[in-house]
Amino acid sequence: MIVVRTIAELRRELQAARVAQQRIGFVPTMGAFHDGHLHLMRTSDEECDLTVVSLFVNPPQFGDPTDLANYPRNETHDERLAESAGVDVLFAPTVQEVYPDGFNSAVEIDGVTAPLEGAARGTDHFRGVATIVLKLLNIVQPHVVYFGQKDAQQTVVVRQLIRDFNVHVDMAVCPTVREHDGLAMSSRNVRLSVDARRVAVALSEALSLIEERFVQGEVTTATLLHAARAHLAARGLTHIEYLAAVDSRTLNDLSAVELAAGHAPVLFAVAARVDGVRLIDNVLVPAPSEAHRIAKSVRQPELRA
Ligand code: PAJ
Repeated sequence: MIVVRTIAELRRELQAARVAQQRIGFVPTMGAFHDGHLHLMRTSDEECDLTVVSLFVNPPQFGDPTDLANYPRNETHDERLAESAGVDVLFAPTVQEVYPDGFNSAVEIDGVTAPLEGAARGTDHFRGVATIVLKLLNIVQPHVVYFGQKDAQQTVVVRQLIRDFNVHVDMAVCPTVREHDGLAMSSRNVRLSVDARRVAVALSEALSLIEERFVQGEVTTATLLHAARAHLAARGLTHIEYLAAVDSRTLNDLSAVELAAGHAPVLFAVAARVDGVRLIDNVLVPAPSEAHRIAKSVRQPELRA
């Protein structure tokens, strides 16, 4: 694995792969790697000839300066983990390299950025995400870009970005990787105290409860959300930012899980603060099949040979 710091170096490194018509897979990250990130890297390693990972903590997507300052960073450890996951090129640029003096643009996506994370974190968050993702896609120009279902709304926003700006890339969404007890892996989990860690598992438990009740026949989202909310309260998780049931493509609120063919699954999404640490999780109902999960759904018609 090689580590590159500049866009020019990265382009040079990828030139040979492009000439040899190698399939380039790309995993954008902010570092502090855990198994969720490593799963994306391994998937790219299996599916592509060359895997590029970016490690860049992107200041504009952090509304809260303390969150940015506290974001865990350990590049040496990350380098070892990335290498073990089959990564060929780790792109770890400075803020100055990505946003040089005079940088003066931003990508604004309407609609799908408004609810959930957009409402809770403000409009700057997805403006920051969309801007860096478009920049990274232009810099790396991969054949496939890998994202995690853990950040469900981010996948919807990026899908919209790829469509709206005709980015020549396939997008793959990989399932959420969890701790043994169900807690979704997150770089922020290291900031949980022992007590907070015990409470945090209530988030995935509440989502599992929704899945169970649905399997038992309940389709009304208000009833499913009520059961989840009651579970969170019983486990002492009171600081909930949102708990919602939305269409997984449009993010519009839904009152029932529609079982007829052609309907997108319902996204049950939750965000909460546990002891000051902000955690998010989600589940799709009905659960998509494996084939559906690794969705090549944004492959654009003109790219389908
Ligand atoms: P980051 O939070 O580092 O996440 C990088 C990728 O890992 C994202 O696609 C995220 O959804 C995925 N991921 C995180 N936890 C996961 C888990 N438990 N299971 C599966 N996948 C998981 O998301 C970002 O960085 C940034 O917003 C970025 C896209 C890099 C733009 O700055």
